[in-house]
Amino acid sequence: MAKVKTTYVCQECGSETPQWAGQCGQCKAWNSMVEQANVKQSKGEKSSRFTGYAGEQSKVVQMDKVDLSEVPRMGSGMSELDRVLGGGLVPGSVVLMGGDPGIGKSTILLQSLCGISKDMPVLYVTGEESMQQVTMRAQRLGLETGDFSLLTETQVEQITTQALMQKPKVMVVDSIQTIYTEMLQSAPGGVAQVRESAAQLVRFAKQTGTTLFVVGHVTKDGALAGPRVLEHMVDAVLYFEGERDGRLRLLRAVKNRFGAVNELGVFAMTDEGLKQVKNPSAIFLSKYTDPVAGSAIVSTWEGTRPMLVEIQALVDTSHAPQPKRVAVGLDHQRIAMLLAVLNRHGGVATFDQDVFANVVGGVRVMETSSDLALIAAIISSLRNRPLEEHLVIFGEVGLAGEVRPVPNGQERLKEAEKHGFKKAIVPKGNLPSKPINGLEIHGVSRLQEMINLL
Ligand code: TYD
Ligand code: MG
Repeated sequence: MAKVKTTYVCQECGSETPQWAGQCGQCKAWNSMVEQANVKQSKGEKSSRFTGYAGEQSKVVQMDKVDLSEVPRMGSGMSELDRVLGGGLVPGSVVLMGGDPGIGKSTILLQSLCGISKDMPVLYVTGEESMQQVTMRAQRLGLETGDFSLLTETQVEQITTQALMQKPKVMVVDSIQTIYTEMLQSAPGGVAQVRESAAQLVRFAKQTGTTLFVVGHVTKDGALAGPRVLEHMVDAVLYFEGERDGRLRLLRAVKNRFGAVNELGVFAMTDEGLKQVKNPSAIFLSKYTDPVAGSAIVSTWEGTRPMLVEIQALVDTSHAPQPKRVAVGLDHQRIAMLLAVLNRHGGVATFDQDVFANVVGGVRVMETSSDLALIAAIISSLRNRPLEEHLVIFGEVGLAGEVRPVPNGQERLKEAEKHGFKKAIVPKGNLPSKPINGLEIHGVSRLQEMINLL
């Protein structure tokens, strides 16, 4: 049997001591010593610990001889989740599901697992809830299950042993902060425990080809506990976010080894669990009632689909020596830049005004296509006059006051037309070759042209 010992390793310089110390003896860094498991192998024992992820003897292969047929994708039972994962689950991959407590991480994974269990065996390991709680929730949500096993366990060695016997194709561990390894003495949830337990789970997934979801609560400062260590270990990191009192939930990938990271999955939390929102534009615009001053609709691009969202601006006389510029859901730096362009090339001064901007529905728009709509919202608020009804605006604004085209103009316009918009202001370069029925499209090449149109 392997002898388990722990040592303390300095995270700055890597020096080791058998005992914890507040300051590293070598590099004198403070609070840098972290407990680490140290497995001494006895002679003849073949441990899986050092054989690498593949779990088998490694060998060099020519790139053109790599067998790609082995990476099939499985549906997760939820198309919005598949979308964020880049097209479905990859066998042997490890996905970290992060988010604030109570946001719905357990719910989305329970719903997804129930769907998958109709086709293949799945295992839900929970260290937070009892089996009864999980089962009751599944029943209350009316979820049909197939080969669905449950395990309440927090010791990682037990989890992998049980999973080896159960042989699930997809496994969920909820949550990593409750899991501990017997190799370390520190309490669950600490950096060392989280890292070591996760490492063992990742190794298990890679060696058995099990798809593994690991749930991780996000700490207040936004970092996954075990500062970033988990993010490096796993194949994909998904964040589940949304306003706590709101019903809308957004799932986004911040890292994905098997797909793009710019996809956004949209869900709504209802009494019957999470519902997929296949048509997000409709839900973001549903809060939009009569036109009010300071509001503009932009057609943005999220991953592979267009989305209509409302941008609001409030411009108000400032009494501070430094006027405020606050942006929620928009790029902070960009708003200052656009105000300068607006002053220089549009003749609209805001140096004595506080400017607040917000994207409705908790969405983040980091695309430059929102420039033109943001400026329109600012002008509308400044004049205290609503923009025309059924008007959609998109386009990037350059420092010289020019309006630049953005990718996928045609699809953005089609999306607006689908939702009943009648008029569009877009960059000249985005004018479609064929007119779109029912949509009056104005192409502009300078900021001033748009201001004249408003
Ligand atoms: P949960 O999945 O337990 O969150 P997490 O695992 O991220 O901590 O979701 C908990 C919240 O979701 C809870 O506060 C209530 C709400 N909820 C609903 O509104 N409707 C439902 O059908 C379910 C299952 C949960
Ligand atoms: Mg939970």
